[in-house]
Amino acid sequence: MSGLKGLNAAAVWEQIGLKLDVMIAAMGEKSPHVAGATGKYDDMRLDWWTSGFWPGMLWIAYDITGAERYKKAAWNWDERLEKLMLQANNFDHDVGFQFLPTAAIKYKLTGDAEARRRALYAANFLAGRFNLRGKFIRAWNGDKHGWSIVDTGMNLSLLFWAASESGDPRFSHIAQEHANTMLNYFIREDGSVHHIIDFDPVTGEIAEAIGGQGAGPDSAWSRGAAWALYGMANTFRYTGEPKYLQAAQRVANFFIAHLPEDQVPHWDFRVETGLEGEPRDSSAGACAASGLLELADLLREPEGRCYRMAAERILGSLYENYGTWDLPTHEAILLQGTGHKPAGQNVNVSLIYGDYFFVEAIAKLNGWSHRIF
Ligand code: GLY
Repeated sequence: MSGLKGLNAAAVWEQIGLKLDVMIAAMGEKSPHVAGATGKYDDMRLDWWTSGFWPGMLWIAYDITGAERYKKAAWNWDERLEKLMLQANNFDHDVGFQFLPTAAIKYKLTGDAEARRRALYAANFLAGRFNLRGKFIRAWNGDKHGWSIVDTGMNLSLLFWAASESGDPRFSHIAQEHANTMLNYFIREDGSVHHIIDFDPVTGEIAEAIGGQGAGPDSAWSRGAAWALYGMANTFRYTGEPKYLQAAQRVANFFIAHLPEDQVPHWDFRVETGLEGEPRDSSAGACAASGLLELADLLREPEGRCYRMAAERILGSLYENYGTWDLPTHEAILLQGTGHKPAGQNVNVSLIYGDYFFVEAIAKLNGWSHRIF
């Protein structure tokens, strides 16, 4: 691994542009999720939580450059998602991850009325998953009626957007109630987070914490921390309530303090047997970096600068040590992501959400001012 150099955000954006052109040529109608050793992205089903990330990258590139090829490739994704939503499907709380980088940003950038309608439709679907007794948004489907997960923090932005777009405050009431549940049950005193909390869906009483994609119920799944830090920063941005800002800082401080020397996190910060030989999760690093940039913008100096510098250190290492820049036909941008280590799924691969948050964070460093989340 090479040492960390200062990050030249404009130069990295140029490299990203070259990659996006490779990706546009390769992707077609594919909904990319994982690329392994072949360097080819798979084609995941459209109701899987990751289907918004590739079009989201295209909308960011369109917003920054104004180049029509990005808009053309991104244009029909919200329509495709909606078509599936009107048939048997497995959409869940992750409609935020899916409709914010497609319908909502398309509406923001183009004023397309159909895109606005689709984003509001998805927000209604998300709001309908709220459990009144437990004050949480239900995560998944099937018999998991009481399962709530830390990742939902990122999907709250769809509700805050819908509240402001429609003028109906119920959307933000639900988002804030869920955010309060995150403060009460998910974010620990030390700034680490639980992945899953199982509530009794009838009484709303907490039943147990579950390890989920982390190493165990008491471990510290790094991507979960990234979701919490970014989600809490966003919740502060939308509400102005300091408790969310404090929570974002608590998680950020834990995250930064536990980074290894090269600044890219292991998949979990607290593995009982130790971190030696454990895989990294570049996607957790990219997502946290983008969240840290958001947090930095919400704080006065010099506090903000500390988080901005931490983000730049992570992004610098991702660029220097984890990129596919020397593999011009590789369809992904980052290597060494970890999807679900306990299940043995997607370990040491490229993940589309790692690519998305890397692109988003570099766009922010280049002055991109719209927001998707
Ligand atoms: N939201 C699912 C994951 O982070 O893997």
